[in-house]
Amino acid sequence: MAIILLGFMGAGKTTVSQHIKRPFYDMDTIIEEKIGMSISDFFAQEGEAAFRKIESETLEELLQLEGDIVISTGGGVVISERNRDLLRQNRKYNVLLAASFEVLYERIKEDKVFQRPLFLNNSKEDFHGIYERRMMLYEGLSDLVINTDNRTPEEVARIIQCI
Ligand code: S3P
Repeated sequence: MAIILLGFMGAGKTTVSQHIKRPFYDMDTIIEEKIGMSISDFFAQEGEAAFRKIESETLEELLQLEGDIVISTGGGVVISERNRDLLRQNRKYNVLLAASFEVLYERIKEDKVFQRPLFLNNSKEDFHGIYERRMMLYEGLSDLVINTDNRTPEEVARIIQCI
C-alpha cells in the first residue's frame, strides 16, 4: 500500500520519506525536473496558477503507482478540491506530519536551499492564516497524524513503518 505524506512546508515530509525503507517519490523534485527550474523561479516567472496545474497533474500520475511506496507531497497540494478528492479516493494511507506554526516558521526561515515563495511573499500573519486553513484540510484527509515537534525524522519514519 502506498503511503502519502501530507503537511505544511517545513514539516519534514521529504526528510522523513528518505528514512522510510521503501521506494520514495518526492512531488516537488519531480515537478522541478519537469519544469527545469526551481519552484520559486517558476512561481516568479509563470505564477502560482501554472504551478498548481503541474502539481495536480503530478499528483494524479503518482497516485496511479502501485506497490509499497511513499509519496511526499508539496504543502499546497490540499488547496485544490480536485486534489482533495483524489487524495480521499486514492485508497492509500494518508499521513499528516503536524508541527506547530512557530517551529515550522523558524525552519522555513533557516532553509536557504529551498526557498518557499509563499513564505517570501507573505507577512508572518498572513502566512499563519495559510497554516491554519491548511491544517484543517490536512486533518480532514489524514488516516494518521504524527506530531513532529519533538521527534527526529528517524523517529517519525519508524512510526510510519509500523503501518
Ligand atoms: C508549497 C509548498 C512547497 C512547494 C511550493 C508550494 C505550498 O513544498 O510545493 O513552494 O503551497 O505549501 P513543501 O511543502 O515541500 O515545502
